[in-house]
Amino acid sequence: MRHNASALFRATFGVAPRAAASAPGRVNLIGEHTDYNGGPVLPVATPLRTTVAVGPADAGVLELISTLDGERARIDWREGRATGWSAYLAGVMRELDTVGAAPAGAGARVAVASDVPVGAGLASSAALTVAAAKALSLLASVRLSPRQLAGVAFRAEHDYVGVGCGIMDQMCAALARPGHALLLECASLAARHIPIRGRLLLVDTGTRHELTAGALNERRAECEAAVARLKLDLPELVWLASWPARWLPRLKRALPEPLRSRALHVVGETARTRFGAQLLARGQVRRFGELLYESHESCRRLYECSAPELDLVVAAARRAGALGARLTGAGWGGAVLVLLGKGNGRTGRGEAKVAARIRRAFATAFGREPSITAVRPSGGARGGRLG
Ligand code: GLA
Repeated sequence: MRHNASALFRATFGVAPRAAASAPGRVNLIGEHTDYNGGPVLPVATPLRTTVAVGPADAGVLELISTLDGERARIDWREGRATGWSAYLAGVMRELDTVGAAPAGAGARVAVASDVPVGAGLASSAALTVAAAKALSLLASVRLSPRQLAGVAFRAEHDYVGVGCGIMDQMCAALARPGHALLLECASLAARHIPIRGRLLLVDTGTRHELTAGALNERRAECEAAVARLKLDLPELVWLASWPARWLPRLKRALPEPLRSRALHVVGETARTRFGAQLLARGQVRRFGELLYESHESCRRLYECSAPELDLVVAAARRAGALGARLTGAGWGGAVLVLLGKGNGRTGRGEAKVAARIRRAFATAFGREPSITAVRPSGGARGGRLG
């Protein structure tokens, strides 16, 4: 992939790139819609990556080419607003400029090659912004720490592009370790790497919800409204995820629907995620799997971020004997994560059999096949200067 971005750079601009970097997509095991509420998340990095190759350009100019759409673009990022995927790169450039880590004159040529599908709930935008932040800071000869890279990438997406995302995706793309999940407490940013036992399948339903960013912003606004109301009971409350779990009756009384359901999901998911991380660390994969099914149910019923295709895959996985399954990422379409025991599922059926049963159930209901792949947790951003 790194090679592809470099080849694309050369073919487009007629010279060799000076630096290149790559960053992974992510699959969140549990902890959905908790990050922007100050709760914990537990993602792994995918083997699928986005690679960015860069070189110098005229001052203030971004010259872009990508396998995402094959279109070439030239933007003056300091003037007006970029749109589409160029906006993510303009945002990264602005944030790097702010922290003194942008290339000379803050101009760059950028080639992007990616095998992280867009809109599948696998955080393709974080793979792009973290890889771009790393490559462009290397071009500027500035070494940013993984946390600094994640910060630049988060502000590019959240502040510049205007997506109400949390910090999970960028932290995972920057910090992930092969073979491990990342337990991240999003209020304190305390992070711990937990070795993964069990095997993971990713079922991409191919359903893309075009309004994901809009729906995410709406949910975020609902959570903020819930906090504003709950502050009357608990003035020191900053994050919705910090509402004490033993005060659920009080929360139910205080909030009208739909804020009540949203808040119940966030508080319940926070407890599930912390417990789940303990189980995983102790190697109790079976019990961990049950939490995944509970998490999906909470996403479906309380947070209302599922879709019929996702529900069907989760039900089929359960029937096929998987230890756990749930939608992963924002939801409203995208992919389902399936957890299997070492080499087989609960009833002793192998990975291929579970996959075949999911595929059959999906084809019967929707007349097409989902894409099913094994996920081996990979590592975070890496890169270097070239030549
Ligand atoms: C999107 C956001 C993440 C997170 C998830 C839901 O992927 O980018 O920050 O909020 O939704 O858990």
